[in-house]
Amino acid sequence: MVKILVTGASGQIGSELTLELRKRYGNENVIAAFHNKKAPEELIVSGPYEYIDVTRKIDLERVIKKYDINVIYHLAAILSARGENDPQLTWNVNVNGLINVLEAAREYDVNRVFWPSSIAVFGPETPKYNAPQETIMIPRTIYGITKVTGELLINYYFNRYGLDVRCLRYPGIISSMTPPGGGSTDYAVEMFYFAITKKHYVCFVKEDTTLPMMYMPDCIKAAIMLMEADPIKIKHRVYNVSAMSFSAGQLAAEIRKYIPDFKCEFKPDFRQEIVSTWPISVDDSIARQEWGWKPDYDLPTMVKDMIEKVGRKIQR
Ligand code: SER
Repeated sequence: MVKILVTGASGQIGSELTLELRKRYGNENVIAAFHNKKAPEELIVSGPYEYIDVTRKIDLERVIKKYDINVIYHLAAILSARGENDPQLTWNVNVNGLINVLEAAREYDVNRVFWPSSIAVFGPETPKYNAPQETIMIPRTIYGITKVTGELLINYYFNRYGLDVRCLRYPGIISSMTPPGGGSTDYAVEMFYFAITKKHYVCFVKEDTTLPMMYMPDCIKAAIMLMEADPIKIKHRVYNVSAMSFSAGQLAAEIRKYIPDFKCEFKPDFRQEIVSTWPISVDDSIARQEWGWKPDYDLPTMVKDMIEKVGRKIQR
């Protein structure tokens, strides 16, 4: 019997991933955990939930024991832009939170752990195009530093203790259910809300800023595919995954196909500096070879779906 704990379940990825895991493994078998923040109603009513502060190991231990957890998706984290406001808190949540999860997983015989890394592990020295899985990683943000550290820790726990931890380096994630908070790629989600409600958006990166991105259904598919993959196939702990790359201007133009009078202005702020250190595209060929990764959405199909879903959400 699989018993799954999802930390950060009220976040951008967590909220949709938890619902998908509940569909797959049964509502009662997926425990949504979040910290203080108000969680989406759907999460609270569809299955068990708990309050966990991942910086407190006893919180994790209590829930792992209570439900006899054997799989953890550890998503709780502070993102890149917010991270710069409080580097110490970011280190504490992102690194010490991960160590608490890894330690608790080891002590309570958890079978498998998922942890998301990010393109933020890369820095200006990394090749801009098709950033390889194994390459120079000198991130400039504290968030990126916590993600590189986390990747090293994951490899350590696997090699030292045999803990089956699996990790994806996600690009910017675009979603309709829960908006991201405090990330530097948030403009790619905000643009939809402003286009639909105000027909006007002031974008915080330059028009030609191009980044790797992924639509939420692919983000969830990748996590579940990796976690369900036969251990024999998994030759790495950390994988690049990618789906599409587009500039902020290309995204605005694609949205304009549905909302012709949408106006987008570009006024870069401090987040421009952050994204300028990240690659334009990522080489995910190892994920494709080893466990069959393949995204379903590209820019036009993602935008079509987002316009429909965000439009419906706003009407409600
Ligand atoms: N999308 C994230 C951010 O902008 C990167 O992982 O912080």
